[in-house]
Amino acid sequence: MFEHFDNPQELFEYRLGSALTMEHDSLDMLRDLEAAAQSDDIKHMFSHHAEETEQQIANLEKCFSTMGVDVNDSPSPTTKGLAKEGSSLISKTDPALVDTVVLAAALGTEHYEISAYQTLITSAEAMGAREVAALLKANLAQEEHTSEELNAAAKKVAATA
Ligand SMILES: [Fe+2]
Ligand SMILES: [Fe+2]
Repeated sequence: MFEHFDNPQELFEYRLGSALTMEHDSLDMLRDLEAAAQSDDIKHMFSHHAEETEQQIANLEKCFSTMGVDVNDSPSPTTKGLAKEGSSLISKTDPALVDTVVLAAALGTEHYEISAYQTLITSAEAMGAREVAALLKANLAQEEHTSEELNAAAKKVAATA
């Protein structure tokens, strides 16, 4: 299975599995970023989005059950790379400056998640999978909201540095 894609459904299932792996990676990353962040407000932002991420994982699992297919754990190398880049820069950065780094790392992951959901929604709608599209849209809305919050927080940190 999943060695060569010749129909949209199989390709979609694979990409949905990658999104599920992406969310598990994102949850791990949020916990690491929360630990590294210095400001309580930023820590709280990460813990809140980690709770949302747990819901997003449940929504993705529901997408699989709605379609009547098994959950899969397709790879998500990009989120692993983003996490690695973030932790590397955190380890090289003085605590006084680290909030800038954790916010940038989180924002990168949010933008990647947004792109993943945008294209999954397009595919789900094209296949007429309305319930699946609705679940994916709920996740996308949280990612978009979080990216706005992170960007605002990064501007605030930059202004007070
Ligand atoms: Fe997410
Ligand atoms: Fe996210």
